[in-house]
Amino acid sequence: MDLKGKVAVITGAAVRIGRTMALTLAESGVDICIHYRSSKQEAEQTCKDIQRLGRKAVAVSADLSDSQKAASEVIDAVITEFGKVDILINSASVFENKSLMASSEDDWDSHLDINLKAPYFLCQQFAKSIKPEQRGHIVNLVDWRARRAGIGHLPYRISKAGLVTLTECLALELAPEIQVNAIAPGAILPPPDQDASYLEKRAEQIPLQRAGSPHDVCQALLYLLQSDFVTGEVLTVTGGEQL
Ligand SMILES: NC(=O)c1ccc[n+]([C@@H]2O[C@H](COP(=O)([O-])OP(=O)(O)OC[C@H]3O[C@@H](n4cnc5c(N)ncnc54)[C@H](OP(=O)(O)O)[C@@H]3O)[C@@H](O)[C@H]2O)c1
Repeated sequence: MDLKGKVAVITGAAVRIGRTMALTLAESGVDICIHYRSSKQEAEQTCKDIQRLGRKAVAVSADLSDSQKAASEVIDAVITEFGKVDILINSASVFENKSLMASSEDDWDSHLDINLKAPYFLCQQFAKSIKPEQRGHIVNLVDWRARRAGIGHLPYRISKAGLVTLTECLALELAPEIQVNAIAPGAILPPPDQDASYLEKRAEQIPLQRAGSPHDVCQALLYLLQSDFVTGEVLTVTGGEQL
């Protein structure tokens, strides 16, 4: 896909990896809808930074735990603002360390609703908006741990495993008009409640002996979006940690 003049909606794009993806796509000529829930100021700042790069930007707030309603609101808002949407990036996520014995029904619901059900209905609304002559691209942010058994973060892992399955199934269902891929990051940014030492410890276990950066994720994103012959792929960006 030639990115110049395309329109992308990115969920959870006010801060962290989502923000870096938004700025990277803007640098490549893409107009951006920044979705956020609580980071209003940061979303507005990200819009300003995109506009400084010469692209259009709009910020839209929606709580993805009300998944179907939020999906309609977000896609409607981007169509109203830009007249079309070519790229959907599902990046918003919750990440809590809950084991089977420590998790409640609320933990299960919030992870499954925000990390899986919202992307599901966003994909549905996005696909409905694609016109016959248009081409679309969906990229889902998953996690390499979604493809491995492990202890802890259980509702999170299950939600991301579901998102991998959704990616592969939609790559078939939505072909040839829409490509659907995923990026599976490893240690990129510490969880908001941890400091840099979290990543330093993780780096010791990583074959490339360092944590990644949002820029590493953006390189994978640009590759997937610019490729016209890759769909149903889960691209790991981990420094080899999954091995
Ligand atoms: N960070 C890593 O190293 C890493 C590793 C593996 C996978 N990943 C995946 O990569 C993606 C980006 O990671 P990240 O660390 O940048 O994400 P993050 O900071 O954990 O979350 C991104 C955004 O999700 C939004 N969000 C949370 N609950 C929401 C809700 N109910 N409704 C709407 N939005 C909600 C928040 O928006 P507001 O701030 O506006 O509330 C938050 O800023 C995620 O899908 C994550 O699972 C990240």
